[in-house]
Amino acid sequence: MRFSTDKYDWNRWVFDHFNLPAQSRILELGCGTAHLWTRNIDRVPEAWDVTLSDLSTGMLREAQGSLCQSHRHFEFEIIDAQSIPSNDETFHAVIANHVLYHVADRPRALSEIRRVLKPGGCLYAATNGQGHLRELRELVMRVKPDVYLDTGTDRFGLDNGSEQLSRWFSKIDVHHRQGRLAVTEVDALVAYVQSTRRLDQGQLAEFEKLAEKEIALHGVVQIGTDAGMFEAHKDALDSTPSPQVSIDQRRGKRNERPGAAPVHHDDP
Ligand SMILES: C[S@@+](CC[C@H](N)C(=O)[O-])C[C@H]1O[C@@H](n2cnc3c(N)ncnc32)[C@H](O)[C@@H]1O
Repeated sequence: MRFSTDKYDWNRWVFDHFNLPAQSRILELGCGTAHLWTRNIDRVPEAWDVTLSDLSTGMLREAQGSLCQSHRHFEFEIIDAQSIPSNDETFHAVIANHVLYHVADRPRALSEIRRVLKPGGCLYAATNGQGHLRELRELVMRVKPDVYLDTGTDRFGLDNGSEQLSRWFSKIDVHHRQGRLAVTEVDALVAYVQSTRRLDQGQLAEFEKLAEKEIALHGVVQIGTDAGMFEAHKDALDSTPSPQVSIDQRRGKRNERPGAAPVHHDDP
């Protein structure tokens, strides 16, 4: 990130936590523009079989464009995390960074992820913590006190993610990474706030003046970042089906899995 004071790249940090066999099958959900792979292209093991996927065709096209010059082969596929068109126990790892808080039916997505993971496989899921961009949110609140700048943490964040994952995974570790942005450009602050669509034109102009004043006074606006990644393990001995109805995409029909635990009221 342009204004980060931490010189160690976020995606390098994420990759540092992967602990996977030299021959692994890996699925990334919601890959976005493929930064995870472009930033780590020098250390992707030759024998990894990696599929990048996203719900958005535009994003997947961008991901493909970012990696087209690479010597490495990657597969690309449009996939909705809520219904993954892969056989049970296909992947050693599923990666879903800053994705799960976008997914409407998270129990369904987590059930699908667990289903396609091999026993002993791992879900890596990065997200934000409660403190993410706190100073920026406070600055915006000086213009509009009741504003809600969504960083996804209410739905799936570092503070409530373990509880959600624990229904599907036997062991959950969380890695935290806190940092700081030192923003020296008013335009960058305004562009970010505008992208959240929480302020009208008048409020945005007021925010711009406030940001100008802060930068004139202090030379910088300091903003804390609070992010991290869950590492959620499927039990090595566990090859029982996910406790939920699954979709058999290959045959295009719903299957009730034999031996499935009772379906909870919030399941589809
Ligand atoms: C905030 S971006 C994260 C991109 C990338 N993982 C990263 O960390 O830079 C969220 C991505 O999730 C994708 N997405 C949203 N809902 C999804 C779903 N139900 N299934 C798969 N991808 C989804 C979006 O299209 C977008 O590319």
